[in-house]
Amino acid sequence: MSDVIILNGSPRANGNTEILCRECAAEIEKSGLKPEIISFRGKEFRSCIACGSCKKKIGSCSIDDGLNEIIEKIKDAKGLIVASPVYFGTARGEIMSAVQRISMVSYGGERFLSKMVGGPIAVGRRGGHTSTIQELLMFYFINDMIVAGSDYWNIAFGKQAGEVAEDEEGLLTVRKFGGNVAEIIKAMNRDITE
Ligand SMILES: Cc1cc2nc3c(=O)[nH]c(=O)nc-3n(C[C@H](O)[C@H](O)[C@H](O)COP(=O)(O)O)c2cc1C
Repeated sequence: MSDVIILNGSPRANGNTEILCRECAAEIEKSGLKPEIISFRGKEFRSCIACGSCKKKIGSCSIDDGLNEIIEKIKDAKGLIVASPVYFGTARGEIMSAVQRISMVSYGGERFLSKMVGGPIAVGRRGGHTSTIQELLMFYFINDMIVAGSDYWNIAFGKQAGEVAEDEEGLLTVRKFGGNVAEIIKAMNRDITE
């Protein structure tokens, strides 16, 4: 069981999103919590088909493409971070398909996303980072989630796989964000009488 699930929406192995997820995970670990990065590489998540079966409070999605296994991990966690490469000024389609279906399952039943702590991360070559962050924030805010901040928006720059490692400010921003996610979770779970 992991404390914080980090979704890596990139299809590339050892890509820039992966690097940012690892930086974030390392900070969470330093705070004493257990992170788990889930890569979307090789996965194909369909968009919601509006079948309505999740509204029957079954706690899962009718589409059998592996997302339900991720949903089970999210239900056990206290934090959820969603990281995506920028594709044409927006988040990658696969990650939006996934978060929309995760939202539907949460909405339809246990509201397991409510009060989970996290936030979005975006990486791209040149532009569309903030629109990607804003797009992903729609997922957080409608699901009653708690978004952690940093010293800048969680954006970083890089084109070829690995290039983001040179964006020191991007790395610092994401590290601080990861640490804040962990601190908020710990504060929320501290016994009030301590
Ligand atoms: C289909 C596609 C669309 C892209 N669109 C943008 C874009 O709009 N803005 C941008 O800055 N970078 C864009 N990029 C570049 C990627 O965001 C960039 O290479 C990023 O580092 C990829 O992350 P990854 O290594 O984790 O896959 C695009 C790349 C692809 C493949």
